[in-house]
Parts: sequence; structure tokens; C-alpha cells
Amino acid sequence: MSRQFISINETSHVDLARIYDLALAPVQGDELAGVGVSLVFERPSLRTRASSISAVQRLGGNVAVFTKDEIGLDERESAEDVARTLAQTSTIVAARVRNHDVFARMINATPETSFINLLSNETHPTQAVADVLTLAGHFGGGDLASLRGLTVAYVGDATNVTRSLATALIGLGAHVVVGAPDGYQLSESAVALISSRSQLGGTIRVTDSAHEAVLGARAIYTDSWISMGLEAESAQRRRDLASFQVNAELVATADSPAILHCLPAHRGEEITDEVLDSEQSLVWEEVRHRTSAMLGVLRWMKESQ
Ligand code: CP
Ligand code: NVA
Repeated sequence: MSRQFISINETSHVDLARIYDLALAPVQGDELAGVGVSLVFERPSLRTRASSISAVQRLGGNVAVFTKDEIGLDERESAEDVARTLAQTSTIVAARVRNHDVFARMINATPETSFINLLSNETHPTQAVADVLTLAGHFGGGDLASLRGLTVAYVGDATNVTRSLATALIGLGAHVVVGAPDGYQLSESAVALISSRSQLGGTIRVTDSAHEAVLGARAIYTDSWISMGLEAESAQRRRDLASFQVNAELVATADSPAILHCLPAHRGEEITDEVLDSEQSLVWEEVRHRTSAMLGVLRWMKESQ
């Protein structure tokens, strides 16, 4: 039977708990023996591509990578026909797509195939799994219960990464505060959807003040001001988001917070070198846990087959 990992929101708390467990369980080496995994990238990627390949290989599966120019989703042929074609060689298709809605179309075309979202314009769920593992590793030696009651501030442009991160954290009882200017904040409907996933007292709050967002925060997270596909808005975004930079002065407002960033970082824009390279920075732990996250998701999918 297929399993889908398209967003944190659509994955049950029980399944997420299993994914977190499997992410850190010892690797047997042959768990994906004979399993074909296709990786499709409609956007550039370093970490997601490298960690996905590494995870499939560590589990003994076969991996093939296809980029935008080779496939042309809805250009050279329809997303449905791409899915039907890849289903002939792969039981799992992991894709980074421009439009989130493509997943539903591909799943409808080949319901027997398992799909993993490797980032869309709306969500980045494998990143959120890695971030949860990173925070739990830092604050609780890997114990997810350590995230209950923890305050995590997200500062800057509220992105695909923000939505997935906040949804994952609120389900583990954390308090999420998102500091972003007007026009770059989570929508009311996004906040409502995230809130609906609250467990164990988890909360979400939004503010248009970066300083207010980080008061009392144990961790500060930021992401690029110019997500992939928004390059034409670069100049305007740099102006609008300038006072939301994660720099030493902002970090000093909180109490020695951990620093997180999904990367790639635009040093000197959303975050300074000083903060990104500080002892409080967990960014390389996040990268390391991208492979853990993929191990967890792939093994969880295999459990259903
Ligand atoms: N964080 C992340 O997804 O990095 P890449 O875009 O390099 O894959
Ligand atoms: N918000 C960023 C995340 C990159 C990993 C983007 O979508 O480009």
C-alpha cells in the first residue's frame, strides 16, 4: 500500500512520531533492497538532493535523479504522465515542485505510488522533520518531550519552511512566535490551520515586531527573504524585510537562543555571518538531520509495503 508525505498537516501525529523514531533508529542496510526511488527537482537543491540520495543508498535502495530540464513537468508532458512513467521503475517518487497542487494530480494518476514532498511553494515537510530532530537533540538529548513548552521564534519572511516548522512544533507542545512585517506574515487561514494541529499545549502567535517575537525565545529561526521563484521581487523584499535581519543585536534580546536556518543562507541579508557562525548556531546539525529525516520518511513508507 502506498503512503504519502506531502505536508506535516496531512500526516497524523502518530505517523509523525513513528517517522521521528525511525529517523534515528539504527540502519540495517537492506531495508530498501530492490526498491526504486525517483527524485525529481523542479527547483535547485543541494541539501535535499544530497540527503535524499544518501538516505536511499544507506537503506540499500536504487535512486535516480531527474531535474527540471530533463522532465519539464507540465511542459514536455503532463505531471500525470511523468508520475505514470516513474511508477514503472519506482515505488517512491520524491519531488521538489513549483506548484504544491501538482502532488494531488500525480497521486491521483498513480495511487499505488508513494510520494514525498521535497519542498513546494507551500510547504517543506522533510525540513521540518530535520528541524524537530535538531531542536530535540539540542534541548533534550533527542527526547521530543523536551520541545513541550519551548518557545521558538521565527523571524523574517513567513515561508513554506515556516508553515511546516510551526505545524510540526505546535504538535509537540512548543510555542511558536512568528515575527514578520505586513505582507510577509502567515495568513489568518494558515495560522488557523497550524493552530488546529496543536497538542500538549502548543501555541502559535504572530507579531509585526522582530524584537517582540524573540523575547523569551530559546531558539530563533530564519529563512531566505527571496524564496525560489520570487527573484523578480528581490529589491522590494530586501527593503521591506531589512529590519527583520537576525543579527547580534536581535539575538541579544533573547536569552542565548539556539540559531536555526534551513539554508541556503544569504549572509548579510536575513542573517549575519556573526550569528550564523556563532557557537549557538545549529545549522550544520540541521543539515546532518536532513539525512535522518529522509531515513525516517523512507522507512515509514516501507513499513506499509
Ligand atoms: N534546506 C534545503 O532544502 O536546502 P536545498 O534547497 O539546498 O535542498
Ligand atoms: N523558502 C525557501 C526555502 C529553501 C530551502 C525557498 O522556498 O526557496
